[in-house]
Amino acid sequence: MTIGIDKIGFATARYQLSMADLASARNTDPNKYSIGLMLDRLSIAPITEDIVTLGAAAAEKILTDEDKATIDMVIVASESSIDQSKAAAVFVHGLLGIQPFARSIEMKEACYSATAGLNYAKLYVSANPQSKVLVIASDIAKYGIKTSGEPTQGAGALAMLVTAQPRIIAFNDDNIAQTRDVMDFWRPNYSVTPFVQGMFSTKQYLDSLKTVWTEYQKRQNLSLEDFAAFCFHIPYPKLANKGLNKLMDKTLDDKVRAQLQEHFDSSIHYSRQVGNIYTGSLYLSFLSLLENAQSLQAGDRIGFFSYGSGAVSEIFSGNLVDGFKNMLGDSQQKELDQRKLISVPEYEMMFFEEADLDQDGNASFIDYDTHTFVLDSIVEHQRRYKRR
Ligand code: COA
Repeated sequence: MTIGIDKIGFATARYQLSMADLASARNTDPNKYSIGLMLDRLSIAPITEDIVTLGAAAAEKILTDEDKATIDMVIVASESSIDQSKAAAVFVHGLLGIQPFARSIEMKEACYSATAGLNYAKLYVSANPQSKVLVIASDIAKYGIKTSGEPTQGAGALAMLVTAQPRIIAFNDDNIAQTRDVMDFWRPNYSVTPFVQGMFSTKQYLDSLKTVWTEYQKRQNLSLEDFAAFCFHIPYPKLANKGLNKLMDKTLDDKVRAQLQEHFDSSIHYSRQVGNIYTGSLYLSFLSLLENAQSLQAGDRIGFFSYGSGAVSEIFSGNLVDGFKNMLGDSQQKELDQRKLISVPEYEMMFFEEADLDQDGNASFIDYDTHTFVLDSIVEHQRRYKRR
């Protein structure tokens, strides 16, 4: 029995910031962002959009009524949680109308947790082959105004349906993970933005890639020639590009090198326009690859490098399934272009707006544009969502 991703969907915020505008406001050479980080635009989420609305919107795009009647586990992976206790997956389960006899949980380990979610889903389906598991990677990346991480913010969610006999990609049982206790990026409960040792985090990312890849090759007896493409966690595309260069040593065949680079360029197409979406960014790179690469074929082996600060990393692979192209919807490009362009002052106001609660814990919001679902209000400290 094969197990893997049967459907994949994406949703991002309805507002965008141009990196050229941000560069001008920060007295920075625009090439630093467009060439140095390889970023062109960022998605900006208003206060009425959060990991629940984004995650539910991404899932709503791909699920049929039959899926909703069958799904028996909902996993939301995130590091932008809206509650310390109640799982975002419970809100998502309710908004989507998924049948009641389902397990709904939230998972966390920085940008890595969606990979753990997929692995749990795989194990669950292998024991329950009729099951369908909805895995959502949803995050809003906020570093703060004028911080070094500011140009690498973003917002978005990926929804993936994990089943037996998947129609997009079948996972191989080849996962190699690594944990190392480092403080490269963390967010204590009392802080709305993370603490980051930026340069240290890039070193950890690249060094984790090197050590996990070495171990993966040793244990799986595979080399880069066995892969048609490699998808990376993308805090910003330039770092992932450095990651690819780390894997491609001098002895690599030129044709393989050219194909890997071409597929890599397809895999960063959306991230360049969305920014960092933390745990979803690896899977946005996979969707971008699927929708933008010209020469992918059924049977191709795709590698995945997952990295979450703190730090946990993992390499695994899957093979594209016959007919995978039939499972792709419209390209994301139209929706990305339709996002409303906002100025830097508008971004500063919108992205960092906080709920103005009265003494009873009530708040209402300006009617910002959102996807299918919206955070409508807070009533006695309870978040109230509705379908638009
Ligand atoms: N034209 C072209 N490129 C330029 C440039 C210009 N005018 N000015 C700078 N650059 C390049 C730099 O050479 C560098 O590229 P390199 O890494 O290939 O050398 C790149 O732009 C970044 O500039 P740099 O000054 O080195 O770093 P920074 O102060 O902008 O910080 C991060 C970069 C990643 C540390 C910062 O964005 C950050 O803290 N991000 C959040 C943490 C993160 O994403 N970590 C990743 C692992 S999870």
